[in-house]
Parts: sequence; structure tokens; C-alpha cells
Amino acid sequence: MSKIDYNIFLIGFMGAGKSTIARSLVQKLNFPLIEMDERIVKEQGMPISEIFDRYGEEHFRDIESELVKTIGTLEPSVVSCGGGTVLRPENVENMKKSGKIVFLTATPQTIYERVKNSSDRPILNGHMNVPYIAELMEKRRPVYEGAAELTISTDGKSREEIADEIIRRLEE
Ligand code: S3P
Repeated sequence: MSKIDYNIFLIGFMGAGKSTIARSLVQKLNFPLIEMDERIVKEQGMPISEIFDRYGEEHFRDIESELVKTIGTLEPSVVSCGGGTVLRPENVENMKKSGKIVFLTATPQTIYERVKNSSDRPILNGHMNVPYIAELMEKRRPVYEGAAELTISTDGKSREEIADEIIRRLEE
């Protein structure tokens, strides 16, 4: 039996590997998976880019904050957060109440390779290039680092290695 009996919140920039690693973790821990973006899309009945276009980013952030609160009332899960979920300190506080926050990092070049063909990331619309990604990542870095209880670099590692490292370090 694993000692982990709380939510594992995966945070980090778009393309850091949150969804991929979350899927490996749920297999290893036998936990439910919560994909925040996917849930929001399903509940709102439209893609993230449409939520941004029609109602604005703040509205999307409000929905995200409500979802973080709801997750705190559910059984322990692996949660793949949106890249901006920790931008609100309120969300970080609520996440820490029900689990541990794991920050996945990757270089701007790696991120670019992973997200360049995606059209449903409004934050990167019209800015799909390495310098912009590097700049925004640098701006957000203090927020991610401030929220993180564990930081894991994903560059050059397999999803298996990363998931095993997370479990080992959480159980330490
Ligand atoms: C966002 C990241 C996205 C999604 C939304 C905003 C951000 O999630 O929540 O487009 O502000 O970084 P992913 O990190 O899963 O791409």
C-alpha cells in the first residue's frame, strides 16, 4: 500500500507533461484521474478557447477556482491542473489543504515542441514561438516555485521515470 492518501496536483507550464504524467501516476497508484481542462470543457460544453473568447480569461479562472474547491471534497485523485491554475493564491491554498503540489518543469524549447501544433491554448495564440514561451515561463516561474512542494524536471526522462520519481519522493 502506498503512503499517499491525498490529492496529487500536477502543476507547470502548458506542455510540461502534466496530462501525460498524470496518466502514468493513476495507473501506478490506482487513483482516479481529474483533468481540470477536460472537465471544464465538458461542463461548459465548449472548448477553452471559446470560453476565453466569449467570457474572458477571468471567467475561466473563476470556473477553475470553483473546480479546485470541489476537488478538495472528493476522494484522493491525481489532478492534472491547467497551466494557470496556481496563478490565484486562493487556489494554491485550497490545493495544499487536500494534497501535495508537484511542479513539472521543461525547457522552453521542449515546451514549444510539445505545444506547437495545438490551437486550443488561447494564452499562446499568436505567440507560438520559443522566445515568447521563455518570457512567459520566466514571469510565471516564481508563482510555480512558490506553490511547489516538489519540483521535477522532465527533460530527457521517460514518463515512467518521472512518475516513479514523483511517487518515491512523495513517499520519502
Ligand atoms: C493555461 C493553460 C491551459 C488551459 C488554459 C490556460 C495557462 O492548460 O488551462 O488554456 O494559463 O497556462 P494546459 O497547461 O493543460 O495547456
